[in-house]
Amino acid sequence: MHKEQHLLALSDHTREQLLQWIERARVLKNDTKCRPLAGKIACLIFEKASTRTRVSFETAMYALGGQVVFQTKQDSHLGRGEPLKDMARVLSRYADALVVRTFGQEVVEELARYAGVPVINALTDRFHPCQILSDLLTVTEKKGALDKLDFAWIGDGNNMANTWIEAAAIFGFNLRLACPQGYAPDGEVLQWAMDRAPGRIRLMRDPVEAVKAADVINVDVWASMGQEEEQQRRALHFRDYQVNAALMSQAEKDAIVLHCLPAHRGEEISEEVLEGPQSVAFDQAENKKHLHKAILEYFILKTAV
Ligand code: CP
Ligand code: NVA
Repeated sequence: MHKEQHLLALSDHTREQLLQWIERARVLKNDTKCRPLAGKIACLIFEKASTRTRVSFETAMYALGGQVVFQTKQDSHLGRGEPLKDMARVLSRYADALVVRTFGQEVVEELARYAGVPVINALTDRFHPCQILSDLLTVTEKKGALDKLDFAWIGDGNNMANTWIEAAAIFGFNLRLACPQGYAPDGEVLQWAMDRAPGRIRLMRDPVEAVKAADVINVDVWASMGQEEEQQRRALHFRDYQVNAALMSQAEKDAIVLHCLPAHRGEEISEEVLEGPQSVAFDQAENKKHLHKAILEYFILKTAV
């Protein structure tokens, strides 16, 4: 299967394709009767915890008339060293799509190489494409056309930051990332994006410089899943990177704040900002389900081999 038949990274797809999924999600959000996936099965394989992504994929599948099977590392042979290429081929004979949350991007790539059905990246250490697509739906609902907007990223140069960088290059919006020293986003992703969209993406240290004139301010946890042991050290390094009322006073008055959740109140974001009128975190969480409906429909029906 070609890389376009999977959703591993945003950069594998065209701007037009990403916009189509966002538009389809908007339609499916208001259509509760559509059952295009009746008789289809998605297999979810999650090596990391999840509240939103798991349940929004499962409820999206059910909403479209399909069903799901869920596996973790512990209750499958993944935890006992079964080769990914065997797993991919076996599960492809039972299910119509594999939705995978794992550590290395190379794991979803290896699964996709051998799977006979689409593989959808539900978060790796490198990318979280489904999250950014649903966040783009939320942003367009709140703010309109993407290419007219200014985005800021505050904090860790993590999987979310890397995926926002890809999105900025693909859609051509301005993105300023304020990251502490030693926590820059992936160098290859940055280079790819800067080559594709010169002048659109800027990396800096100062959160105030990043949020000035921003329409959309993005924040995520300081320690991602798998970095629990670094929590204390990171709390120290990120202490000037909290999105709070003082930082928000430097931004546009009508700026919105995005947090993909889970949030650590008092760390990367203050309670006041997360619960305040500029936060759209819970609309983002809802839109994950609608975007996942669009993704599942597309990959299961349109890319079948
Ligand atoms: N935003 C997000 O991916 O949340 P979960 O980790 O709960 O799935
Ligand atoms: N960067 C976070 C995102 C959680 C949805 C993590 O990988 O844990």
